Amino acid sequence: MNKHERTLDPDDWERAKRLGYRIVDDLFDDIKRAKTATFHSIKESDKLALMAPLTKEGEGEEEAYESLFKHAMDSMVAAKTARFWGYVVGGGSHYGVLADMIASEFNWGDSPLFASGVINNQALNYIKEMLGYPMEASGVFVSGGSEANFTGLAVARNARSEIDLKTKGVQGVPRKMTLYMSDQGHDCLDKSVEILGLGNEALRRIPTDDAFKIRVDKLEDAIRIDRENGYHPFCVIGCAGTVNTGAFDDFNKLAGIAEREKMWLHIDGAFGAWVKISQTHKHLTSGMERADSLAVDLHKWMDMPYEIGCTFTRHPTEHVKTFVYGHEAEYLKTAIDALNDLATTNNFCIRLSNQARGVKPYLLLRAYGSKRYCDLVQQNLDQVNYFASEISKQSDMEICAPVESNIVCFRYKPKGLSEEQVEKLNRSILQSLWNISLYMISDTQIKGRYALRVCNVNHRTCKSDFDWLVSEIKKQGEKLFPEIISGK
Ligand SMILES: Cc1ncc(COP(=O)(O)O)c(C=O)c1O
Repeated sequence: MNKHERTLDPDDWERAKRLGYRIVDDLFDDIKRAKTATFHSIKESDKLALMAPLTKEGEGEEEAYESLFKHAMDSMVAAKTARFWGYVVGGGSHYGVLADMIASEFNWGDSPLFASGVINNQALNYIKEMLGYPMEASGVFVSGGSEANFTGLAVARNARSEIDLKTKGVQGVPRKMTLYMSDQGHDCLDKSVEILGLGNEALRRIPTDDAFKIRVDKLEDAIRIDRENGYHPFCVIGCAGTVNTGAFDDFNKLAGIAEREKMWLHIDGAFGAWVKISQTHKHLTSGMERADSLAVDLHKWMDMPYEIGCTFTRHPTEHVKTFVYGHEAEYLKTAIDALNDLATTNNFCIRLSNQARGVKPYLLLRAYGSKRYCDLVQQNLDQVNYFASEISKQSDMEICAPVESNIVCFRYKPKGLSEEQVEKLNRSILQSLWNISLYMISDTQIKGRYALRVCNVNHRTCKSDFDWLVSEIKKQGEKLFPEIISGK
């Protein structure tokens, strides 16, 4: 290079390596302390320091990192702590961090012509095998559950439309297309339906039973009524683990209806699909393998660092027709034709340029094997059962929804309080827990009643953490009770 040419490669590789080793040391130390750490929102002084102005000449690699580490790490501990059960957030791992680093070094590309494409495909195969989904299904790694659901529904919409939807668009459909999901389905599905141009009124929210499962009789009624009124019912969405209570729909029944009605069955298994690898709860996923498409996350219950999820479909041709065939740019055509293997074409989603996303699941699954993940899922389920049974033993606590998988909805409820006072007391308990560690647990509404909620996908949690939680809630409840009674 002549002296006027610039590059991002370092002048001094040894110095660059030293910074690299230091970063690995710092990150591993941070993960090590996470188990017992608590989580608080960012301090004002850190916020200001991070809002550093862009400089013309740059601050230098060490200096920029120094500042980031000093001012960001404290508030980034969040879901890595052992007592984080507020949202469905995986805790990551040291090896996941290394895997991400490798994926970044690979940088671009998951074409089957490269090692990263082979790795990608093999990782998808590992996941299909673990979930018992047909091995001939096509699959793609995406950013997470929302994109995984969007990708599955995009294929469903195109595959089941009555016209060439790619050409004519939703504006050309002769009958309005409708789809069906329980009233417990995740909001990201509304978002997908909206972005797919179907309009959220096309997504029929079907009532659930006392166990928060879709009411199949109501679903059948809704499809029939829509047909009678000239609509085109094209898709049923099943919930494998609702975010509110962890409920599972009956997939065999949904698959039967979808087959009979010539509709597409999509399952949102963002976290819940993984009960398939447990000993005690796998029956909940019976029929999941019959879904036309399946969305799953790896950054939730599989604890892989964000962002990683995947979509599978039993219809590779429809998958490729939706995302690849027909509009590849001229400059890509020769390369795509050369692949000649639908199941390994990896840009089966909205992106064109890809990170080597498969590296992370590939390395982690190879390193730990399927059994470690089965054990971790089972451990969380056992812990949740234990927590629920401890709550049931308390005369001043109650369970608010059936505990079907890894979520417990409950509340502190001493005798003699009105519904309004119970809600006020539990809101205050939530706040007290958040003062200890932010978002430790969350709250929700269960059929119109306020409840506290614990969702356990945490590989750092021990059973004893739930003993602590029960006693802490009782302690806080007893402390706050007089304020509620006196109406302060
Ligand atoms: C059932 C369910 N589906 C979809 C999503 C969205 O997934 P993501 O946050 O990875 O986009 C979530 C998130 O919690 C979820 O619980």
